[in-house]
Amino acid sequence: MSDAVGSHPQYDAFADDFLDHAHSGIHNAHCDRPACLELLGEVDGRSVLDVACGPGLYAEELVARGARVVGFDQSPRMIELCRQRAPSGEFRVHDLAERLDWLPDGSVDRVLFALGIEYVDDRVAALRELRRVLRPDGAFVLSRPHPTGTWLHHGGSYFDVRVVEDVWSRGWRLRYWLAPLEQTCEELREAGFLIERLLEPRPRAESADTDPERYERMSREPTAFLALRAVPDPRR
Ligand SMILES: C[S@@+](CC[C@H](N)C(=O)[O-])C[C@H]1O[C@@H](n2cnc3c(N)ncnc32)[C@H](O)[C@@H]1O
Repeated sequence: MSDAVGSHPQYDAFADDFLDHAHSGIHNAHCDRPACLELLGEVDGRSVLDVACGPGLYAEELVARGARVVGFDQSPRMIELCRQRAPSGEFRVHDLAERLDWLPDGSVDRVLFALGIEYVDDRVAALRELRRVLRPDGAFVLSRPHPTGTWLHHGGSYFDVRVVEDVWSRGWRLRYWLAPLEQTCEELREAGFLIERLLEPRPRAESADTDPERYERMSREPTAFLALRAVPDPRR
């Protein structure tokens, strides 16, 4: 296994299926999105950069809450879906491996990067670029698969930073990075962020009846995500 995910837009082939899965499924609608939206706080009148925006489920909600949303994704089909869901936003196809040269320094109030960092090879460079475009008094919200959950699933050493290939329940074949919690914290520090708050979201009570088995497991074991809020380190 090579130690890179590469630049192929893996989600393009199943972008529509991802939308179907993430729209109301327990993982995204009842666990990740509520946590990240809570960490983002009040967005009315604020600009939000939606990194790896996917099919626009966040963008739609952020627009409804009064935010001006700019976003990008590596997958052209995701961007089509996103434009349909949040027509007032500005979205483009862009790979986070490239510089965000279309965004000036300190130009956005909030950066949201939900469930995408595990696909990025040079994460420190990408995070530095996100810090550059964030206002000095802005905030950054990041979510990723819970490192304990991915380690329980894949085995091996918890501490190894490595690429794995996996087939998810809907048949999606994906390559992504495994990294311990310490690695994510160190990458944020190297990129010039200070972590303010970290959550290990459990599913919302409303989802108990819709998916009882997963609800019970996700309420007991760290098999879902973690979400954190960081701010630019003023000393760097
Ligand atoms: C699990 S989905 C999350 C989508 C959205 N953030 C959400 O939570 O609903 C991961 C997304 O990351 C995007 N992605 C992966 N690697 C990327 C990269 N290098 N640059 C930009 N987007 C990327 C994929 O195309 C996909 O839309």
